[in-house]
Amino acid sequence: KRVSYFADKNYKIGEVDPKLFGSFIEHLGRAVYTGIYEPEHPLADEDGFRKDVMDLVKELNVPIVRYPGGNFLSGYDWTDGIGPKEKRPTRLDLAWRTTETNEVGIDEFMKWAHKSNIEAMLAVNLGTGTPKEAGNLVEYTNHPGNTYWSDLRIQNGQKDPYNVKVWCLGNEMDGPWQIGQLNAEDYGKKAREAAKIMKWVDPTIKLVACGSSTAEMPTFPEWDRVVLEHLYEHVDYISCHRYYENLGNINDFLGSFADMDHFIKTIASTADYVQAKNRSKKKMYISFDEWNVWYQKKVELKDWEIAPPILEDNYSLLDSLVFGGLLCTLLQHVDRVKMASLAQLVNVIAPIFTQKGGPAIKQAIFYPFYQVSNFGRGVVLNSLVESPKIETNKHGEIPLVQSSTTYNLVDNTLSIFALNCSEDDDFVLDAQFRSFGQVKVIEHLVMDGTNLDATNTFETPDNVKPSQIDSTSKTGDHLEIKLPKMSWNMIRLQ
Ligand code: AHR
Repeated sequence: KRVSYFADKNYKIGEVDPKLFGSFIEHLGRAVYTGIYEPEHPLADEDGFRKDVMDLVKELNVPIVRYPGGNFLSGYDWTDGIGPKEKRPTRLDLAWRTTETNEVGIDEFMKWAHKSNIEAMLAVNLGTGTPKEAGNLVEYTNHPGNTYWSDLRIQNGQKDPYNVKVWCLGNEMDGPWQIGQLNAEDYGKKAREAAKIMKWVDPTIKLVACGSSTAEMPTFPEWDRVVLEHLYEHVDYISCHRYYENLGNINDFLGSFADMDHFIKTIASTADYVQAKNRSKKKMYISFDEWNVWYQKKVELKDWEIAPPILEDNYSLLDSLVFGGLLCTLLQHVDRVKMASLAQLVNVIAPIFTQKGGPAIKQAIFYPFYQVSNFGRGVVLNSLVESPKIETNKHGEIPLVQSSTTYNLVDNTLSIFALNCSEDDDFVLDAQFRSFGQVKVIEHLVMDGTNLDATNTFETPDNVKPSQIDSTSKTGDHLEIKLPKMSWNMIRLQ
């Protein structure tokens, strides 16, 4: 069966903002402790950060990381995590029912981010926290000196301001699970006052308002409308979060990309409605600041352990196919989705998985993220793809091939990312590249296999990974490229 494909270098959706490949570290389970930070580990550096984990983070080419939460954020007092470690309080974390030692706080995270070549995206607590405390944190991180909070930073060892540019105004404030949940009116007002204070302290910062926690919230998309009506001129992005899991119907699971596409379009339309209503010239961008495959039904919390192994999903080949489809959807919306955070980065629903005292391995989802983050740069082309379709229960009719194409003008390469969801058919991508003239495939990496449940473990760390195939020997402006059934593909051309 054939899938017709046409790409033109002049027909673009938009530029890829590198922040699309952001990620997320929360004080949750083993993300921080025994994840990025494990002073007793043989590979820990002088600050206690695991160098093996840092190397994998660098390989993923993650430009920005959101911190410190997540649900944790809404009960967190950031002042607990600064100053001499022996004086920091140990607290109950009510979000994940664990004990937080506060060994790692803002200063340690900033040090880790700096060493990992990562920009920080910090979040302020608008659950139990106040707008004033949010302003104090901006003063601590961004003000040069000669004030209480900035001098405290200097006293704690950091002379120069961190100049953190991107800030989230709370986390999932629409959710009943959130500590200090608010309705849209109350959140809108509280976040607006926090935004004013934070921007008065540092007018150069960019702010992200809490949008809906998932498209399944009963308040979606009304929440987003009301929040934006309060905040439109004060913020630069509206956030959205969405997780997918296999609930037994494989086509529904593979079609998760269609749900994400619909979610983004609805939020964009809601933002545009508010723009029109406010007679505003400003366009509201989206920060998709939590997304992944996550088996939420399996979460079990025990009481008050320190850094317990929770939310440690072991991703399968099938999960990585779905994950690839989601990456394509994010790319297809680069004109609107300017930032995204893969939730999360280490151990907790993450591409990187560590053993306390032992190795760090790549989960199956590591690979699609690595490929798109490293090779999905430049501009996204508005490629025309005509694929066979199937009917799903959850998403209606979906194409069997979900794809996105990026064109990197720096090295004149094209990258086609494609998911073939068909359980029965290999497809031939009947690809026309007229405006590019002669092209040839530099590499075609594929993830597929008969065992969709295959995962990577400490015993078999390389069980699921891409392999190179020779899908075409031709060159020219018209190629035929094989997309095996149930496969994730990266095809690079020059
Ligand atoms: O990423 C895990 C959790 O998912 C986050 O803490 C929360 O924001 C979301 O519900």
